[in-house]
Order: sequence, then C-alpha cells, then structure tokens
Amino acid sequence: MIPFWEEEAALEGQLQQVTDLILELIQDANDYISSYLRSMVESQGKMLRPALVMIGSRLGNDQDESRAVRQAALLEMIHLASLVHDDIIDDADMRRGIPSLQKQLGVRRAVVAGDYLLVRAISLLTDKGRTLEPAVMSHAIGRLCTSEIDQDSEEWDFFISPTHYLRRIAGKTATLFALSAFSGAFISDAEPLVQRRMHEFGYCLGMAFQIRDDILDLKGTKASMGKPVGKDITSGVATLPLIYALERDETGSLQRLLQGKRKFSKRKVGLIINRILDSGALASAESLSEKYLNRALALLGELPDQETAKILSRMIERLVSRVS
Ligand code: FPP
Ligand code: MG
Repeated sequence: MIPFWEEEAALEGQLQQVTDLILELIQDANDYISSYLRSMVESQGKMLRPALVMIGSRLGNDQDESRAVRQAALLEMIHLASLVHDDIIDDADMRRGIPSLQKQLGVRRAVVAGDYLLVRAISLLTDKGRTLEPAVMSHAIGRLCTSEIDQDSEEWDFFISPTHYLRRIAGKTATLFALSAFSGAFISDAEPLVQRRMHEFGYCLGMAFQIRDDILDLKGTKASMGKPVGKDITSGVATLPLIYALERDETGSLQRLLQGKRKFSKRKVGLIINRILDSGALASAESLSEKYLNRALALLGELPDQETAKILSRMIERLVSRVS
C-alpha cells in the first residue's frame, strides 16, 4: 500500500508493479546487501517519479503498460541510487523514517549498494521499441551528479544567490521530475507539444517540491520528516529560506551565527532557525514554490486529456498539504 496514492486505485496497482519489477531486478544482489536494498525498495515513499511516468503514459495513442512500468522502474531506481549516495555524502542516519543504508551497512557497502542499483537501472535502457534515447538518460544522470558535486564543493558557503540555488535544485531534483513526466508522454507517442508541456510540468513540480522540502527541513518535525530537522544547516547546505533571510539580515546577526566553526551546537541551530523564521523568509520561499505550482497547474489546463490532468492536480493538492 502506498498511502499517498490510495485515492487512485489503478495507479497504485501500477506503482506496485513498478516496485515488484525493481525487486526482481535486484534479486541477484549479494547476500550482504540484498535484504537492506529490498527493505529500502519496499519502503516506497511517495513514488512521485514513477507515478509521473505512468500518468504521462496515458497521454498518447501507443499505450503499453509493461513498457511504462519498465520506464518508471528505471527512473525510480536512478532516484533510489542517488538517495543512497546522497545519504553517504550527508552522513544521514535516517531515510523515510528508517535507518539509511549507510547507517545499516556502513559507507563502503552502501557505496556499492548504490552503484548496484544504478547498474541494474541501466540494464532497462537496453529495452527495444519506443524508449528514451540512452543519451537523454545519461544527460539527466550527468546533471544530477554535477549539481550534487557543485553543492558539495560549495559546502559551508551559505552566501550564494537565489539564482545559484535555483540552478542547483533544477539539476539535482527538477531534472528527474521533468524527465519522468516527459518520458511517460514520449513512450506513449503523445503529441510533441504534449510531451513538451509534460516536461515543463515535471520541471515546475520538481522545483516546487525541492523548495518545499527545504522549507520542511526548517519547520517540520523529526517524526513527520523521518529525519532530523535543520539537517541542511548542520550539513553546510544553503537553502532558499536561509538565502532570503541572509538578504534581510541588516544587523549581520544571522551572518555572525553562521561564521566560525563548521560544527553547530543544537542551541546554535535553534537560534539560526529562529532568525530565519523571524525574517519572514519562509513565507517568501513558500511564495516562490507556489509560483512554480501555479505554472504547473496552468500547464495541466492545456493537456488534451482532462481526466489525466485531474489526477495530477489532485496529486499537487496532496503534496501541498503534506507535512513530510
Ligand atoms: C536529495 O536531496 C538528493 C538528490 C535529489 C540528488 C543526489 C544525487 C547524487 C548523490 C548524485 C549521484 C547520482 C546517482 C545517480 C548515483 P536533498 O539532500 O536535498 O534531500 P534529502 O533531504 O531528502 O536528503
Ligand atoms: Mg540529503
């Protein structure tokens, strides 16, 4: 059961097929990683990327469920591999409310577990028929990696511009959302204009989603998020609310809190979060996220199949009301 999709029974069934296919693809993993990988795959999350593929695949005339399931599994596995590696980079203990793979397996084994997921994902690129060009996939994975490398190389630099931040999240999150929404429309041979609209829809959704995720890192709770709050600050990652708050920091008090040692005490993180909340930066970040969502909703009005558009707009409603 995927609680996020319980209102969309047909889609939920398809997403279950995606999970089953991923489990099948990783069944030959070495014993020392297989049960851990399985539990990560089974924890499912919201499965937004595969859902975008499956929904997009209803928009063309050449509908083939099993082809769409394979495409959806490919994108979800790339996402999962990136999360495994991201948790190593961030030294994160928790993911989706359970201990991260790096916590359970140690860094060395988690690295190869992530590599293994990526390699098994790439095996799906050899599908015949109407599938994405490997070059398109490799470009997307490349952007994912380079954005993560940029973020890592700029660690502890909180003084970046909003544009710089937006370029970074475009690469690390919106790229895969855009490709997911586009690929569903593409493999079902939807009109080129519909494919382009789905690409932009996925992009806007991904941007809004990452901004919201960064907001929730400051105002969520450990229980609701399945990971500690304020993690971006303690990992030295600049996110939009902090960037906006620094722009308004006329007295320099926030800037002073961020300077010095690279290890913040719990008390200091609390002070930094309070400064951000007091500055009104959260509302400004929320408003930019809303702009992306409104653009996404406007694109839905231009889709030929309004039944499909409604599933996507209900998805946005549920995402907006989410607390994790
Ligand atoms: C989560 O973001 C991380 C990403 C969206 C991308 C991570 C990409 C890599 C590690 C590059 C390697 C890629 C592959 C395919 C192996 P976040 O840290 O903002 O979110 P979080 O709070 O959920 O961790
Ligand atoms: Mg992370």
